[in-house]
Amino acid sequence: MDSIIIHGGKRLDGTVRIQGSKNAVLPMMSASVLHDGVTVLEGCPRISDVCFMTEILKCLGAQIRWEGHTLFIDGSGINASVIPAIYGVQMRSSVTLMGSLLGRMHRFEMPFPGGCVIGKRPVDLHIQVLRSLGAKVEEKDGILRASCESPEGFCHVFKKKSVGATENAILAAVRAKGKTRLSGCSVEPEIIWLCRFLEAMGVTIRGVGTEHLMITGTVRLKDTAFEVPADRIVAGTYLMAGAATRGQIILEHAPVDEMTSILDAYKKMGGQYEVSSGKLVADSRGVQKPLPYIETDVYPGLPTDLQSPLLAVLAGIPGSSHVRETVFEDRYKIIPQLNRMGASVTVSGRDAYVEGQPGLHGEKVSARELRGGAALVIAALSAQGESQVLNRHYIERGYEDICKDICSLGGEIRIDKDD
Ligand code: UD1
Repeated sequence: MDSIIIHGGKRLDGTVRIQGSKNAVLPMMSASVLHDGVTVLEGCPRISDVCFMTEILKCLGAQIRWEGHTLFIDGSGINASVIPAIYGVQMRSSVTLMGSLLGRMHRFEMPFPGGCVIGKRPVDLHIQVLRSLGAKVEEKDGILRASCESPEGFCHVFKKKSVGATENAILAAVRAKGKTRLSGCSVEPEIIWLCRFLEAMGVTIRGVGTEHLMITGTVRLKDTAFEVPADRIVAGTYLMAGAATRGQIILEHAPVDEMTSILDAYKKMGGQYEVSSGKLVADSRGVQKPLPYIETDVYPGLPTDLQSPLLAVLAGIPGSSHVRETVFEDRYKIIPQLNRMGASVTVSGRDAYVEGQPGLHGEKVSARELRGGAALVIAALSAQGESQVLNRHYIERGYEDICKDICSLGGEIRIDKDD
């Protein structure tokens, strides 16, 4: 079975090192397509989304090599612009290849992007960017095609915040002739990291970290080696695992500066932490307060990716909590599963109402998407008895080895040995 077995009801207590960031490395891999040479990504997480992306890059003509956690991408042989349907539909982040492929090949063809089932996830904002670039875009029978013979610098104002569409616009601008001005950009850390990475490749970008970016087009990029930043969502997930079990854990290499909103929520629940020699030391023995109201938001607000892990903690804190999901319209797939474990959570539209109580019990539950799957692991760690979390493959899209990490924190967790 594609599952994880957890013996819960035990405090986590230990140290874990945080892996490289999925959401930062995937657009960097897209950016490597813009370069007719070698890109080296150090500290790259070996997760299934990265593996899918390497397969797509190979289909485009790139050569890929791994040495431990260092990923070498040689883009000199890239000569194709078609992403086969089997890869594109599996992974939404392939969407950022649109901008890179237009820059490098002046065209692309890809299936409508897939990914986690968390709401409608349209691509209209991405297509608007491509149209601002002057690309001809058409969609027929689930295939998206675009072409732009001589990409030139463009102006684009985002009508709504979108991380992926901002990344796409930046990537589309890199090889466009002249200057591109973007307004209303998202400011998530992963976008800042993408800009830093492109700067290391020789691109000039002004306004990094703000909603207004100006990119000067550059055809010749440099070979670059870049350290992938730590994953703020993985760090937040393990912080929540510590909170759910009232444990004392140390997160090495946690990107604390990017975690302000989840650390605020943690403190409000009664958690205490300090940062010492680059480590986040979190003491959850006092976690006992519900959250009367909390909402997800774009950065620096509470990341939507941590909404389910937080719900798993709140389910076990006596009292009423109220969570509003403002980013995605359907990101509560975990709730029926949590309720099977004894939680009491009701949903009305974007609002989740939690009547927290101690004493979740072990259960056989199913992951339906990546972060919800990780949240079920958290709930199972806090629950009495044995749980089985089915559909482990969703979790492996973003967590390199959640069982090993949770074991380092003292949890009793293993891959189902019948696998
Ligand atoms: C990225 C992250 C994902 C995170 C999300 C929000 C990656 C690989 N994924 O996803 O983990 O949860 O940011 O922080 O980095 N939207 C549209 N039209 C579009 C695009 C988006 O309406 O063309 C909507 C979405 O449905 C959603 C909202 O905009 O409601 C935000 O989505 P967006 O920021 O684009 O998320 P992703 O880039 O897909």
